[in-house]
Amino acid sequence: MVQKTLAFDVYGTLIDTAGVFKSLEMLVGDKATSMTELWRSKQLEYSFRRGLMQNYQDFSVCTHQALDYCCEALKVDLSREQKDSLLEEYRFLPPFADVVTGLQKFQAAGFALFAFSNGRADDVHNLLCQAKIDSYFQDVVSCDEVNSFKPNPGVYAHFLRRAESVGSEAWMISSNPFDVIGAISAGMRSAWVKRSSNAVFDPWGIEPTLTATDFVDLVNLMGND
Ligand code: 2OP
Repeated sequence: MVQKTLAFDVYGTLIDTAGVFKSLEMLVGDKATSMTELWRSKQLEYSFRRGLMQNYQDFSVCTHQALDYCCEALKVDLSREQKDSLLEEYRFLPPFADVVTGLQKFQAAGFALFAFSNGRADDVHNLLCQAKIDSYFQDVVSCDEVNSFKPNPGVYAHFLRRAESVGSEAWMISSNPFDVIGAISAGMRSAWVKRSSNAVFDPWGIEPTLTATDFVDLVNLMGND
């Protein structure tokens, strides 16, 4: 029997990209909320556009260029040193509070756990280590290995090859609806971790296999699957 394989999205699912909020608040005051949101959405938009254009630069370039864009768009004047310090902080973002307990339970239940991210493998390794959750994962699979980004179906196929799994036994665990839809469209199963009650799932007619509020809720639901 094939073991069930879980592919955990990293940014926004294991690791909280809003972890930069406090530093942004010190630098840009009441623009911090809009800057945190715009930085993340531009970072993702740049990855989508680079994927479509087949003009690949790694995810850290998307993050860096998205920060420059935000400063222009929100008329925030940050020095190169201030931007570099924010980008450095992005390498040490915190995990969400439910992550350690959830990973412990998933591991104890016998699932094979992988981190699967747009981020470069070294950046993801670094994040998982500083969050003290690296030991739960059998490996880090990065879209950088195929010079593309989610939701290109090729990156999910790459994950399945690397994890030696098949779509019917492999789950994408993500709080990002585009990642859930991308994985299902590529033949995997997928759980949406709806971390905010305000989060909206794209109305494309492709529904998550499961929806959970956090990792502990998800372990319970998957245990009954
Ligand atoms: C990740 O791949 C999409 O940011 C998300 O980690």
